[in-house]
Amino acid sequence: RSIKSLATSPSSHILRRGYASEAVPDRKVAVLGAAGGIGQPLALLMKLNPLVSSLALYDIANTPGVAADVSHINTRSEVSGYSGEAELGKALEGADVVIIPAGVPRKPGMTRDDLFNINAGIVKGLCQAIAKYCPHALVNMISNPVNSTVPIAAEVFKKAGTYDPKRLFGVTTLDVVRAKTFYAGKAKVPVAEVNVPVVGGHAGITILPLFSQATPKANLSDAEITALTKRTQDGGTEVVEAKAGKGSATLSMAYAGAIFADACLKGLNGAPDVVECSYVQSTITELPFFASKISLMKKGSLLCEGSLMLCTFIRCSTLVRLGKNGVEEVLGLGPLSDYEKEGLEKLKPELQSSIEKGIKFANQ
Ligand code: NAI
Repeated sequence: RSIKSLATSPSSHILRRGYASEAVPDRKVAVLGAAGGIGQPLALLMKLNPLVSSLALYDIANTPGVAADVSHINTRSEVSGYSGEAELGKALEGADVVIIPAGVPRKPGMTRDDLFNINAGIVKGLCQAIAKYCPHALVNMISNPVNSTVPIAAEVFKKAGTYDPKRLFGVTTLDVVRAKTFYAGKAKVPVAEVNVPVVGGHAGITILPLFSQATPKANLSDAEITALTKRTQDGGTEVVEAKAGKGSATLSMAYAGAIFADACLKGLNGAPDVVECSYVQSTITELPFFASKISLMKKGSLLCEGSLMLCTFIRCSTLVRLGKNGVEEVLGLGPLSDYEKEGLEKLKPELQSSIEKGIKFANQ
C-alpha cells in the first residue's frame, strides 16, 4: 500500500499533530446504507476526514446523487457511488474500514429490538459480502439492534472462516457523546473537557454510563446521577419521539460514527493511545459481547500493514514489522459505584438474550 506525502497538500495542516504529520497511508472507507438519514451526513463527515483517500458509498438506491454531491467537496478522498447488490462487491473491494448504517430506524413506540426482523437479514447479507470482498476490513456496525447485529456479523464471519474479533465493532459512540453532553450540562463543566465511559450494550438499560468515573469531577447527588443515567439510556427515544415518526437520531449518530471511524483509521495508521468505547467480543464479564473502553493501539507501538517499511512517524524512527490489527486491548471496567454495580447485574440477562437471538438467527 502506497504512502503518499501530504506535506505539500493545502489540507496537511489539519492532519493530527503528534504523529504521521508527513505521510498518511491510503485508506478506503466504505459506507453501506449511504443514502439514508445517517448515511448521508456520515458520508459528508468522512469526506472531511483527511485520513480517507477513497470513499465508497453504497446503498440499494439513490447513491449516485449522494456520491456526486459529496464528491464536489475539495478534500483529499475520491468518492464513488454504488447502487444495488450487483455493485456491492466493487464498493467493498480493498476497503480498510466498512461502516454499516443500513436498515430501518425506529418509529415512536418501537424498541430497537422491534427492528430485528428486517435489519438482521440486511446485516447478514452485507456481512456475507464483506467476508467475500474485504475480509480484513474493520467493520463498524451501526444498524440496530446493535446488541444482536454484532453477534450476527460474528457468526457470518465465522461461517466464512474470516472472523477476527479484533476487527468487529458495535458502534456505541453515540451513547458516549450523549453522556458527555448531558453530564456537562448538569455538572456545569466545559463539554469539550468531559470524559465518561459507557459500557454494556446499546439499548435501554443495557446502556450503562459510568458517571462515577466522569471527569472533570463534580459533586452530583444520587438523584442527579440516576436522572443522567436514565436520560443517556433513553437518549435515542428522546430523538425518536421528537421526530414523531420521521426516524431516529441521524445527525448526532453520523457525528458519533465519524468519530469512531476516525479512531479506527488512527489505530490502523499507528497513532498512539487511541481509546474508545465499543461493543466487542469480550471476556471482561461472563457475556461474550460487551461494550467497554478498548484500546485501538498500544502506546508507542506502530502498525504498518504487515510490510517492512521505513517509519516517518514522529514517535518512531525505526524499522518495524507488524500486522494490521484493530482492537489491541479490551480495557477493564474500573471501579464501579454501588448504583453502577446494580445496573451491571440488571443489564446482563437482557444483553445475553439479545446476543443469543443474534447467534440463533445467523445459524438458522
Ligand atoms: P434510514 O432509513 O434513513 O436509512 C437506511 C438506509 O439503509 C436507506 O437508505 C436504505 O436504502 C438503506 N438500506 C436498506 N437495506 C439496505 C441494504 N441491504 N444494503 C444497503 N443499504 C440498505 O435509516 P437511518 O436513520 O439512517 O438508520 C439506519 C440504522 O441505524 C437503523 O437501523 C437505526 O436503528 C440505526 N441507528 C443506530 C444508532 C447507533 O447508535 N448505533 C443510532 C441511530 C440509528
